[in-house]
Amino acid sequence: MEKKITAAITGVGGYVPDYILDNDELSRMVDTSDEWIMSRIGIKTRHILKGDGIGTSYMGIRAVRELLEKTDTDPMEVDLVICATVTPDMFFPSTANLISYKCGIMNAFTFDLSAACSGFLFALQTGAKYIEGGLKKVVVVGADKMSSIVNYDDRATAPIFGDGAGAVLLEPNTEGLGVLDADLHSDGGGFIHLHMKAGGSAYPPSKETLRRGWHTIYQEGQPVFKAAVSRMADVSTEIMRRNHLTADDIRYLVPHQANKRIIDATAKRMGLPADKCMVNIERYANTTAATLPLCLWDYESRLKKGDNLVFAAFGGGFTWGAMYLKWAYDGNIPDKCGEPEDIPLSNNVNNVKL
Ligand code: COA
Repeated sequence: MEKKITAAITGVGGYVPDYILDNDELSRMVDTSDEWIMSRIGIKTRHILKGDGIGTSYMGIRAVRELLEKTDTDPMEVDLVICATVTPDMFFPSTANLISYKCGIMNAFTFDLSAACSGFLFALQTGAKYIEGGLKKVVVVGADKMSSIVNYDDRATAPIFGDGAGAVLLEPNTEGLGVLDADLHSDGGGFIHLHMKAGGSAYPPSKETLRRGWHTIYQEGQPVFKAAVSRMADVSTEIMRRNHLTADDIRYLVPHQANKRIIDATAKRMGLPADKCMVNIERYANTTAATLPLCLWDYESRLKKGDNLVFAAFGGGFTWGAMYLKWAYDGNIPDKCGEPEDIPLSNNVNNVKL
């Protein structure tokens, strides 16, 4: 009998910009404090991408270049690139398109996926289905330049977000490793509490939309917090139940990094101790679609083949979900990847400034 094909993660790349905005600097920009941010959210620093004309693809390109180098992957062999983002460089072409071009990925089809903070999880499941359907190499990117849509005069949202990108390679596996189950959800009614109103087709940019501040994130913290806590915990425990997983079976929870209190509440409902929970919110803040791959990037060296991971995410939409994945390789990799080398590009893509 033919063995079932699953989609295994076979490598991880990541990138965060050099500039670090810490709570003390933020406290000089807006009425807040390190003490408040640490106790209510759990963030100390966030990385910010500076420079005119530099968008989300700049970070995605660097994450994908590192991924291709680490996995020794020929860019021409990649079949598909999906980029989860809510901060694309531009409406079109897609950010995935720009990333692929600059990475020499010229034989793939590429598209963006919009599901806010659940974007990477939704993209990972989408990529997994393409692998199960016969594709051989799928790159899934989560990347967001949240600083481009944060109102730094609004103390309720300014501390929360940061910029970053992460990427994984998916390849077919017949040993029962990789994506084994996912439980994904959306509720469009949540848009009332969390959205960016203008810039799209409903409210194209105008003097009025600028005056009203509709080009930055609007968030009602409390209802979003409550929904995130209950839905992330519900969906994570459901994925445990239907895959007969106990807390002992799980090596790591890989949770979206929106608020340390939300992460702790999810881990608690799952019965997991703190050392089984990937946490890097203190350094990167909420990088939206990039939080999950950046967790893998940071913890890759500690992962072993066969480890059971449960991913959990919640975000704007509302969107939320959980995934059960068996890790496919031993992380014999330096504990924390440094800045990626500037990898030479194929000649035909070298001259584009991205
Ligand atoms: N610094 C200092 N005080 C602040 C502040 C800041 N940055 N932001 C808000 N406050 C104040 C408020 O004005 C309020 O003051 P008041 O009591 O005098 O009115 C008080 O702190 C409590 O505000 P509240 O909004 O109730 O705080 P909170 O404990 O709910 O924390 C969030 C706010 C945004 C951190 C929290 O609601 C949250 O994390 N929500 C979910 C965010 C999320 O997950 N978003 C992304 C989805 S992926």
